[in-house]
Amino acid sequence: MRSISTRLAAWYALAATVTLACLFVVGYQLLESYLIHGLDLLNTAEFEQIRARLGPDYKTLSLDVVNQRIRTTTEYASVLFYFDVNIPKHSTVFYSANLRGRVIPDVPKKHRYDASVPGIGPLRVAEFLLPPFDVTIATSSAQVFKVMDGYVEVCTGLLIAMLAVSTVIGFGLSWLALRPVRLIRETASRIGSDNLSERIPIAGVRDEISELARLLNQMFNRLESSFKQVRRFAAEASHELKTPLSLVRLQAEKLLVDGRLSPADEDSVQMQLEELARLNQIIEELLFLSRAEARAITLQLKPQDPCRFLHTFGQDARVLAEHHGRVFVLVREGEGLAAFEAQRIRQVLLNLLANAVAASPRDGVITLRSTFGSGVWRVSVEDQGAGVPPSERERIFERFVRLGERSGDESGSGLGLAICRSIIELHRGRIWAEAAAGGQGLKVVFEIPATGLVPQGIAESIASAGGERVPSREGEPVPLSEETET
Ligand SMILES: Nc1ncnc2c1ncn2[C@@H]1O[C@H](COP(=O)(O)OP(=O)(O)OP(=O)(O)O)[C@@H](O)[C@H]1O
Ligand SMILES: [Mg+2]
Repeated sequence: MRSISTRLAAWYALAATVTLACLFVVGYQLLESYLIHGLDLLNTAEFEQIRARLGPDYKTLSLDVVNQRIRTTTEYASVLFYFDVNIPKHSTVFYSANLRGRVIPDVPKKHRYDASVPGIGPLRVAEFLLPPFDVTIATSSAQVFKVMDGYVEVCTGLLIAMLAVSTVIGFGLSWLALRPVRLIRETASRIGSDNLSERIPIAGVRDEISELARLLNQMFNRLESSFKQVRRFAAEASHELKTPLSLVRLQAEKLLVDGRLSPADEDSVQMQLEELARLNQIIEELLFLSRAEARAITLQLKPQDPCRFLHTFGQDARVLAEHHGRVFVLVREGEGLAAFEAQRIRQVLLNLLANAVAASPRDGVITLRSTFGSGVWRVSVEDQGAGVPPSERERIFERFVRLGERSGDESGSGLGLAICRSIIELHRGRIWAEAAAGGQGLKVVFEIPATGLVPQGIAESIASAGGERVPSREGEPVPLSEETET
């Protein structure tokens, strides 16, 4: 049983049922002894009646007279009582006919006991001394056992009902008792690094659970302030570094402009300037990431048809790919509108393209595919490079993560995909990496919610313009509207 509520319900049901069972057992003992005591009283009353009828001078009477007196006294009671009056080791004085020749068993040294006579059933026996007679009077205890059997049946039924009812009540109670815990769990699972301001609601009463919620809220307060400090530090450090860096760059440029450096010094200053430019870019990127995390960046998201945007990007991408000896292919399937900021999506695509170019072999094909469907605009960039092992496909979106041979390549900082994810999340979309279609190479895919279909008039004007043509893989111009359609 893994759930606490199930365990609580089971314990509750068990405790309630066992308590009731104990009460029933005690009740059984009391009722039985009460009923048996009643039979003893009856036997005693009957004996008192016989003694009274025999009178104080019964010792002077003949045995026949004694028999006669006992018979007349017990006649009316023969349905209830069994009698055996005798003089020990001598003779039987009176023997009731309802015993049908059977003997009431004797238990030595006991005057009140239970016995069973075949053909008659269970009896409660009482022995009395009326010297020189021994008077044995017995009453059937079958009714007592019948009552006790009925009691057991009723109690068993009640115990089963109790078990069922207490299980239901136990579940209800544990559901109520654990409600605050569920609330804590739901709220805590919503609180993440991007949503640290949410707090667990605290009930008015001061109990253990509200105390726990208060402690958790205090922990979230501390976490939030630490996160804020870290973000502020990253943002401020990046910002503060920019000014001295600009000054160093200006100084270096001045040295070059003055022209008083030897060729060797000039080379080294040139190298410094390149490194400075790289450092500057890293700072810009870190600044962007910390501002995006602090939700300090708001995008101008306007619904638009990505057709023109993709066409323009495709032209630039082709030039860039050709420059590095790679082949670029743009495939556009379906039409629709998506709310995006062109400049930011261009930044994402440029980084994906740069990664694909760096990973691709010479003459490798890089495919940019844009599709609309299931309420999203989906764009993927696929290459024919070495790819990324499945276990690393999520890690490459972390900051400063660079894999394999390229990690020796000093041109990148490992921030590109982290920025891509930030930008796509600002567009309320998602981005991930998977194996390329042929099994070789990497395919990075992002999705942004689609906002509708392209209005008819706009679609026609784009088609009639006819000027939007992207070079195909072979270098032949293909109108956008004729690209692979599905
Ligand atoms: N298409 C790809 N094929 C193989 N590996 C890739 C591909 N794209 C990214 N990677 C791996 O993921 C790492 C992280 O990529 P990311 O774009 O974040 O950083 P970068 O390209 O190294 O540097 P930056 O983009 O900041 O200049 C890369 O260093 C590379 O190892
Ligand atoms: Mg990159």
